[in-house]
Amino acid sequence: MQKGFTIWFTGLSGAGKTTVSRLVAEQIRKDYSRNVEILDGDVVRTNLSKGLGFSKEDRDTNILRIAFVASLLTRNGVATITAAISPYKEIRNKARELIGNFVEVFVDCPLEVCEQRDIKGLYAKARAGEIKGFTGIDDPYEAPENPEVVIHTNMESVEESAKKILDKVKELGYLE
Ligand code: ADX
Repeated sequence: MQKGFTIWFTGLSGAGKTTVSRLVAEQIRKDYSRNVEILDGDVVRTNLSKGLGFSKEDRDTNILRIAFVASLLTRNGVATITAAISPYKEIRNKARELIGNFVEVFVDCPLEVCEQRDIKGLYAKARAGEIKGFTGIDDPYEAPENPEVVIHTNMESVEESAKKILDKVKELGYLE
């Protein structure tokens, strides 16, 4: 069986987690003929985590569910990718422990840029007070201290960011 691993994206809403994760997934499928599964925050919240909100407790529950599924996939040789904000360091580190072959990718994009993009219109709503507890506005985001990869989506192309990630995954011996 091939070595499973999890690429764990973390970063603000609108930072580019979904966009970069899709390209990385496509490249791993195409260039390495691997089975790839993406657990995307927005998708997970419509099924596995349906009904959960955005309190610290609910976010932690959401992340532990994602980590649990990622651990099952990883131990079965799947190239697993998660793309949720995952704002709390402690729970990300729990995910790291649970999963083992873990590649943390910090999608580092300034709040101002995410807010300017405002792809879903949620930052405007958060600023207007229509959404409370929005990450980066009135809810915390704890950046990782020692992520395996940092990508800067405001300064790099999607292709450049994807390449950085794939290079690290190869260097760690998960892809050959
Ligand atoms: S996490 O904190 O539990 O990791 P997750 O990635 O699943 O978050 O979901 C984040 C997405 O939910 C955002 O991209 C945004 O579309 C939406 N969302 C709705 N309310 C909030 C909120 N209060 N804070 C952050 N994101 C929110």
